[in-house]
Amino acid sequence: MWTVPLIVEPDRLAEVAAARIAGAVRETVSVRGRASLALAGGSTPGPVYRRLAEHDLPWPSLHIYFGDERAVSPDDPESNHRLARETLLERVPVPEDQVHRMMAERPDHDAAAADYGELLPDPLDLILLGIGEDGHTASLFPGSAAVRERVRKVVAVEAPKPPRRRLTVTPRVIEACRRILVIVGGREKASAVARALQGPFDPETCPAQLARRGLWVIEREAAAELSGEAA
Ligand code: 6PG
Repeated sequence: MWTVPLIVEPDRLAEVAAARIAGAVRETVSVRGRASLALAGGSTPGPVYRRLAEHDLPWPSLHIYFGDERAVSPDDPESNHRLARETLLERVPVPEDQVHRMMAERPDHDAAAADYGELLPDPLDLILLGIGEDGHTASLFPGSAAVRERVRKVVAVEAPKPPRRRLTVTPRVIEACRRILVIVGGREKASAVARALQGPFDPETCPAQLARRGLWVIEREAAAELSGEAA
């Protein structure tokens, strides 16, 4: 398992994060014969996925999932699936039927969430996550009912920032994952990172604390408010 955060120069975030993901995938496939990997959305992962696509991995043994998705078409610029498709999935030989898209654009959000919860492996081998300035992760936002959800694995949410309607995995999925990798860049995240890793444990107000046990690969400026050996 991983321990202290990796703090890297901005121009090495993608390379270091991709190398860690590749190592975890290679190890998991060698032990289990396959690996389930849940991808994150937002703007940070794109360069990481491009670097990951350059690695020689057992791609046909991978099953790809998503930690969250916006209620938009898979071709919408805001779609996390489109991000993953353009930066990773179109570049590597993961079989189509092993890419499990979160169909958040379905009119019946609750049914789409329930169906995705059914197909999610329990546990996932690896989940990639980001963190928002408010301490959210996936689409688990501070104070939301989703952060308190203890039964369902995927729920529909109204995010405080657009695109508002989304599907997200719930805390029990993150807590069960065999490995967690969090990728963070930007000075604006420094306060949220410090709360997530070193603040009093209260995931309802800082959902990214659910990933506290994971490996955090953090751009130096986003680690600016960490204290002690983690800095
Ligand atoms: C999403 C992500 C979300 C993201 C954070 C950080 O769908 O937007 O799942 O949790 O990881 O908001 O986003 P950035 O990488 O854009 O800073």
